[in-house]
Amino acid sequence: MNRLKGKVAIITGSGSGFGRDTAELFAKEGAKVVVADMNREGGEKTVNKIKEAGNEASFVQVDIRNIDECQTMVDFAVDTYGALDVLYCNAGIPGDLFYDVAHMSPENVRRVFEVNVFGTWNCIHCAAPVMVMKRKGSIIATASSAAWYGADSAYAPTKGAIACMTTSVANELGRYNVRCNSISPYMAMTEAFHEMEKTEGGRAFIEVTKKYSPIYRLVEPIDVAYAAVYLASDESSSVTAMDIKVDCGTINASGVHELKKRG
Ligand SMILES: NC(=O)c1ccc[n+]([C@@H]2O[C@H](COP(=O)([O-])OP(=O)(O)OC[C@H]3O[C@@H](n4cnc5c(N)ncnc54)[C@H](O)[C@@H]3O)[C@@H](O)[C@H]2O)c1
Repeated sequence: MNRLKGKVAIITGSGSGFGRDTAELFAKEGAKVVVADMNREGGEKTVNKIKEAGNEASFVQVDIRNIDECQTMVDFAVDTYGALDVLYCNAGIPGDLFYDVAHMSPENVRRVFEVNVFGTWNCIHCAAPVMVMKRKGSIIATASSAAWYGADSAYAPTKGAIACMTTSVANELGRYNVRCNSISPYMAMTEAFHEMEKTEGGRAFIEVTKKYSPIYRLVEPIDVAYAAVYLASDESSSVTAMDIKVDCGTINASGVHELKKRG
């Protein structure tokens, strides 16, 4: 408890999934949370859950593709809570695993880049001056295991760009005591996966997916939230330009455990 006491944090994409669990945990740890999402219903649901638990949060609607809306989001945090200590750029959209580069439309690629890359950059661009002025801040962004071993040619490069962007921002803002890190989750047991568990085909898919992990499991959204709390807190004050892989070992283990089992 209280690992983020007194801190003001914006979490984009917190109307659902990883972002919602992270917003709830940040608030439980004492942060005042700005729940930022383009989906008002989802965002307000997150705020209600936080308030029901007796903690502090407010909702601001934002489409991170729009830089003016990103500026409004940052102004909202400062006007409402008087500061901005943490920006967690978590909002993102998937690509399309069912098309290869020869068959994917350029519009689809542009759509994913627009949210994942330009959207993340927009948020950091608008939040950075507040942190630079205060000579303190923690910026976190959600990359993905896809950044390190690929997925589809629309999504994976956006996540590679995010990992690279955070290292670059860490270099640019380090002299102002502003840190910047990313988190790379592996596939998570989100609602979609819980639905999948109900069918035989879905269960088979999940079993195959788990095999990539030496600990034979998928990520739970709360696993990502715990990593984000660490990066947001002063416990990680010496950690910057880092990617934390919350991936059940899939990236570094590279499936070698499966080969070993086969002898
Ligand atoms: N779920 C996984 O297995 C997984 C694995 C690796 C990385 N990720 C990444 O984690 C992040 C969160 O994923 P999730 O599974 O929780 O997804 P999700 O779809 O449950 O949540 C994403 C949220 O982002 C919001 N959003 C989308 N576009 C937006 C925009 N333009 N402006 C503002 N908000 C927007 C959505 O409304 C939604 O609430 C994403 O960046 C995703 O790429 C997910």
